[in-house]
Amino acid sequence: MVKRIVLTLAVALFLQSFARADEGMWIPMLLKKYNIEQMQEMGFKLSAEDVYSVNQACLKDAVVIFGRGCTGELISDKGLLVTNHHCGYGQIQYHSSVENDYLTNGFWAMSPEEELVNPDLTVTFLKRMEDVTERVMEGVNEEMKAGERDKIIAANIKAIKEEAIKDTHYTAVLKPFFSGNQYFLFINEVFKDVRLVGAPPSAIGKFGGDTDNWMWPRHTGDFSMFRIYADKDNKPAEYSQDNVPYKPAKHFPVSLKGVNEGDFTMVFGYPGSTYQYVPSYHLEMLTETVNPKLIDVRTEKLNIMNRYQEADPAVRIKYAAKNARISNSWKRWIGENRGLEILDAISKKQQYEAEFNKWAKSQAPQYANLLARYKEVYKNYTNYNLTYGYYREMIPSNGIELANLAGKMDALKALYEAEEVDEEVAKALKKELIGQAELFFKNYYQPLDQEMSAKLLSMYAENIEAAFQPDVYALINGKYKGNIKKYVDHLFAKSRFDSKEEVIAFIDGFSAKSIKALEKDPAYQLNKSFVSVYRDKVAPQRKKYKSELADLDKAYMAAQMQFEPNEVFYPDANFTLRVSYGQVKGYTARDAVYYKHFTTLEGIMEKDNPDIYDYRVPAKLKELYKNKDYGRYEVDGTVPVCFVATNHTTGGNSGSPVLNAEGHLIGINFDRAWEGVMSDLMFNPEQCRNISLDMRYVLFIVDKMAGASYLLDEMTIIE
Ligand code: ARG
Ligand code: GLU
Repeated sequence: MVKRIVLTLAVALFLQSFARADEGMWIPMLLKKYNIEQMQEMGFKLSAEDVYSVNQACLKDAVVIFGRGCTGELISDKGLLVTNHHCGYGQIQYHSSVENDYLTNGFWAMSPEEELVNPDLTVTFLKRMEDVTERVMEGVNEEMKAGERDKIIAANIKAIKEEAIKDTHYTAVLKPFFSGNQYFLFINEVFKDVRLVGAPPSAIGKFGGDTDNWMWPRHTGDFSMFRIYADKDNKPAEYSQDNVPYKPAKHFPVSLKGVNEGDFTMVFGYPGSTYQYVPSYHLEMLTETVNPKLIDVRTEKLNIMNRYQEADPAVRIKYAAKNARISNSWKRWIGENRGLEILDAISKKQQYEAEFNKWAKSQAPQYANLLARYKEVYKNYTNYNLTYGYYREMIPSNGIELANLAGKMDALKALYEAEEVDEEVAKALKKELIGQAELFFKNYYQPLDQEMSAKLLSMYAENIEAAFQPDVYALINGKYKGNIKKYVDHLFAKSRFDSKEEVIAFIDGFSAKSIKALEKDPAYQLNKSFVSVYRDKVAPQRKKYKSELADLDKAYMAAQMQFEPNEVFYPDANFTLRVSYGQVKGYTARDAVYYKHFTTLEGIMEKDNPDIYDYRVPAKLKELYKNKDYGRYEVDGTVPVCFVATNHTTGGNSGSPVLNAEGHLIGINFDRAWEGVMSDLMFNPEQCRNISLDMRYVLFIVDKMAGASYLLDEMTIIE
């Protein structure tokens, strides 16, 4: 790929180390223009039209957004789809209880009637996309003030979206690319009846757990299966018994041919966000300030959670998804810092910036000041961004749960503060909040929350500057003489928000008269004190700097394209459908350590350890292993499990189809290797690897372990 073909010698030296054919997340509609030749040179046998087309069924018709943040793909003409186990985790957990513990034991619907309905789960198909830059920019000119310009753009976007889906059942999404230098419209079809078909036990689907997460060599059977249902006309519909399996325009044949080193691979999915074109100041902000502080606070959270979860199986289930969520970014941040440091990323950026500045001074004076302005903004933005991140950790993002629940009552309060209350609206809101409260208590353990609250309150006080300390600290330092634990004990003794019955009764009977009681509740007060600091002192400033950064980003992006006119740029990930291509390849992890490109069942047995929760191999799998009962999934006396390749991926690519040169499904993307997780900011082809689950292992588990071979009958299997 022509990413970064080089201009000046100095730039050449700097870029050499990471200018390779693997970097990039490309726009499916534009493959013909930029990529298809290179893809074919690398072995791809299909055409650009086969991948993305508005005239014929194509690969894109078999790829979906699964839920809100993952990718999934169709593998049968009866709406069967696969994604990761960790993507279906919330649903699997939702259907689990101590008696029916699908997380632990797995779940397989042995007939359509046994499939499980998931409220709120959707899958989204892309019908078509379109470059709408010109229409978005209509009426905008260079002289305009930012505010005026943004207003026009927002109005244009609204009009374009409305027009695009008028009289259809589709939805429209319109997103900026290249920091607002280009805009694309996406027309989607959203299905709402998506049922759980099956998931392996966590000892397979999450094998290696958070110990192995972000690591290679890997042995996680990270998959789950769902089925999309539609109405009689094959259109989206709310759940109904009368719905029928959706008939997709395209589903992927599953290939049992497997992978060899050097084979072409393509990942087709929804990468969430990357930051390839930011200045060095951004990397400094992350590596020096934001990542270290947030890593610390999450380390403490995980210490507390792990301890409670190990002590009590019920708590283990309740906090399983929360723990995984906290741990995931925590570990990635640690790897990101390490990767950037080893790559010497900051000085690489600085060298590039020096070259850029030289060029700007002599040839593009309008950009000569850009980096200096960036520096000024980051100086201020860093602290606001850190405080914002810390605030999120305190309450909204798996922080003090009690306070978070109390904060949800603000919606009721607002409603009853109005002069006239619409009873219908109130009823609906109460129902919604009671539903939320029920879910909250399903996954709540008060002693854990209480200990966590004290820890978080003391960490915030230590790590965040005085100007952003909410007034709850005045209370702690006054009435409680600085004793946080005393305050927290009082909080949990006095608040009603740790009792399910009380909360539900409170919501149910809420009226204007309840507002006073709500305001007196210490958990409500705690949330309010943090929210108001955030709202009054943090958010407005952060927003201001962010919008200054957005303007700079737009200019810097355009400038970089002029600085390197011969290079083909790919837009940063923005959770739109992208193609990444590369090849199956091992890597050198560190001095003297070379990792092969694939793992096998042997490695699972090597890791087996009944004393370590993450490494307990299920008895059934051991039996299959002992009897070498591998059927057609056997290769060289064992079963392949995972493989690595050089595809450029990020969060959101979880569950993405990994396709071979023929466009057949050979794997499911689910992770990146530790040494390369800095690829969101800087890609290094020597170290950056995406981790995929081998489809042969998936079918082996479905067939031999789950005994759900009827599912194989509806797939198109290529042997
Ligand atoms: N690291 C993978 C991803 O970013 C897998 C996450 C699964 N969660 C976990 N905590 N193991 O999503
Ligand atoms: N597991 C990630 C996800 O949920 C994918 C790994 C990555 O960040 O590349 O999307």
